[in-house]
Amino acid sequence: MIYLDHGATSFPKPPAVRAAVGEAMERCANPGRGSHEAARAGAEVLYRCREAAGELFSVDPERVVLTQNCTQGLNMAIRTLVKPGDRVAVSGFEHNAVTRPLHGLRARVTVAGRRLFDWEDTIRGFRKALDRGASCAVFTHVSNVFGYILPVRELAAECRKRGVPFVLDAAQSAGAIPIDFGELGADFIAMPGHKGLLGPMGTGLLLCGRKPRPLLMGGTGSESERQTMPDFLPDRAEAGTLNVPGFAGLEAGLRLVLDRGPESIGREEAALAAYTAARLRKQGWEVFHGPHQLGTVSFRGGEDCQTLCDRLAGAGIALRAGLHCAPLAHKSAGTLDTGTVRVSFGFDSTRADADALLGRLS
Ligand code: ALA
Repeated sequence: MIYLDHGATSFPKPPAVRAAVGEAMERCANPGRGSHEAARAGAEVLYRCREAAGELFSVDPERVVLTQNCTQGLNMAIRTLVKPGDRVAVSGFEHNAVTRPLHGLRARVTVAGRRLFDWEDTIRGFRKALDRGASCAVFTHVSNVFGYILPVRELAAECRKRGVPFVLDAAQSAGAIPIDFGELGADFIAMPGHKGLLGPMGTGLLLCGRKPRPLLMGGTGSESERQTMPDFLPDRAEAGTLNVPGFAGLEAGLRLVLDRGPESIGREEAALAAYTAARLRKQGWEVFHGPHQLGTVSFRGGEDCQTLCDRLAGAGIALRAGLHCAPLAHKSAGTLDTGTVRVSFGFDSTRADADALLGRLS
């Protein structure tokens, strides 16, 4: 199979990740729930995963909360910062993982910046929304549909200048763009473990600049005499047994990213996207391509997007079509009625993969 759906999850997982998962299943019991060797081995796995994340994102390992996915982290961050009725600024390219929790909280959402690949429009939109009294901002680093890299440093500076807390959704950027937690000054950064960080599905990270409000309450293996959640991180935000084999795999994935460097991974993915976009355009497709684009390209043409995607799947080419759980992004780009077909490159994608797709589409 030619796999060009890395925006959904990186696949197949590297051998080192698979080996780490298998080894943890043999060696590890429940961390923090016993002093025996197997429980200690489990605790060590979790600590090493936090440490690797700390190294990659320049953050104290204790501020790295292990989650099931990016969505869980976003929900925790949003529920910590937003109260019902609060005014919140979001970009025009948010995923349902941001917009649904805000809708559920009955937040008053201002969509700031709807023009694709246009940094000035995005920055201007946020300035306006913040000046009009948004008490929190949530923005994606990279659009999962269009690969648009938002000007997050500038948006972070606008928020910090006004003392407005913000959450960064790094679902599509973690592992492909360098992120420095301290430098950005985010209140929270949420990310999946299973996309650019190459770990197993069912893993995610929430980097915490402040104490989160727990989504789940329960056993942590610490302060068991109390009926309230511990006050300290990461225990406060990690009730219940964690996915130890998953985080063993995630540590292996993080080490691979650290070895190759997110900048170089992202540069290669972006080059493949630019190559594919230029050729798709020559073939007559409507292609969404512009400056500030990472390794994802959307396109559409005469045929229904899902039908085309199904036909390609039948030919062994894996893409994703439709709304990609991001109707707001499609609304902003004017593609809500049809959706798009999305090509998303990953750490091991090659020019030959792009050519195989282009050959099928010509
Ligand atoms: N959010 C993931 C995607 O973009 C699953 O496909």
